[in-house]
Amino acid sequence: MTKWTPASIPDLTGKTAVVTGANSGIGLPTALELARHGAHVVVAARDQGKGEEAVARILRAVPDARAEYGRLDLADLASVRRFAGTVRKVDLLINNAGVAMLPRRETRDGFEMQFGTNHLGHFALTGLLLPRLAASPGARVVTVSSDAHAAGRIDFDDLGMERRYGRVSGYARSKLANLLFTGELQRRAAKAGVDLTSVATHPGATATRIVKLGPLQPLMGLIFQSPEAGAVPSLYAATSPDVRGGEFFGPKLKLLQPSERARSEELAARLWEVSTELTGVRFEEFANR
Ligand SMILES: NC(=O)c1ccc[n+]([C@@H]2O[C@H](COP(=O)([O-])OP(=O)(O)OC[C@H]3O[C@@H](n4cnc5c(N)ncnc54)[C@H](OP(=O)(O)O)[C@@H]3O)[C@@H](O)[C@H]2O)c1
Repeated sequence: MTKWTPASIPDLTGKTAVVTGANSGIGLPTALELARHGAHVVVAARDQGKGEEAVARILRAVPDARAEYGRLDLADLASVRRFAGTVRKVDLLINNAGVAMLPRRETRDGFEMQFGTNHLGHFALTGLLLPRLAASPGARVVTVSSDAHAAGRIDFDDLGMERRYGRVSGYARSKLANLLFTGELQRRAAKAGVDLTSVATHPGATATRIVKLGPLQPLMGLIFQSPEAGAVPSLYAATSPDVRGGEFFGPKLKLLQPSERARSEELAARLWEVSTELTGVRFEEFANR
């Protein structure tokens, strides 16, 4: 255990942070603390009203904050492309947004919703922002996964989960994909000589809307930490000088061991290829070096 707290965040003046899903839950205190320490924060959210309200809340808490709203719907690749096109600079990308435990639905592009939003949307966003990340020395990509990844399985013959869908297995698969992506991004960046650190987090059981919608809602006040506490692993992963690429941080900043499947480089490489095909996003910056 370490004594690190958000007060330990260094001065981030001059850095730009994009935080997905920053309008609610864990994303809002993540964006707020980065802004408090001087970062220019882009609140990337699908709903304009909620996104602008989050910017207003950040400005009420930190009147001299630099915060702006950007419209991003991760369940729509055209929206991801439009959003990425508006980002001129990014040093810290926090892939935080997520949906959980939904009945089977599809994204605008026809992907199963949890995999499409939590993994493919963030895969595409990261790839489209790669030229800007590569231009920023010491760039970081933090992807919020979950300990739920351990139950995840990926059947490449049924990526749409049309034959076999479960709300929990769909969520677990998307969080496994988040971890595989984190590791593969780190390996590809290192191979290409791009100065980028890719890290994953598990926030721990946190009282947010994801949980309110689930079966554990009656236990909310008893076993769930605050969104501010849930943001600590992301904030540490994004800003601590002690972080190394490919690491996975959990509550109380414990270094977690991903499941055996999540550590499979073969699976990670296959998922990367399939995600490239599905999204059409090619991370060309890696090939061009
Ligand atoms: N809470 C926990 O106990 C827990 C545990 C482990 C991992 N996590 C992970 O923590 C992350 C944050 O979740 P949370 O707990 O803070 O839940 P939350 O309060 O429901 O926040 C989720 C955020 O994701 C956004 N989002 C959903 N679909 C989107 C889309 N298509 N495009 C853009 N944004 C979208 C939501 O926007 P709207 O407001 O528009 O819906 C919201 O801002 C997730 O990745 C989740 O898997 C949470």
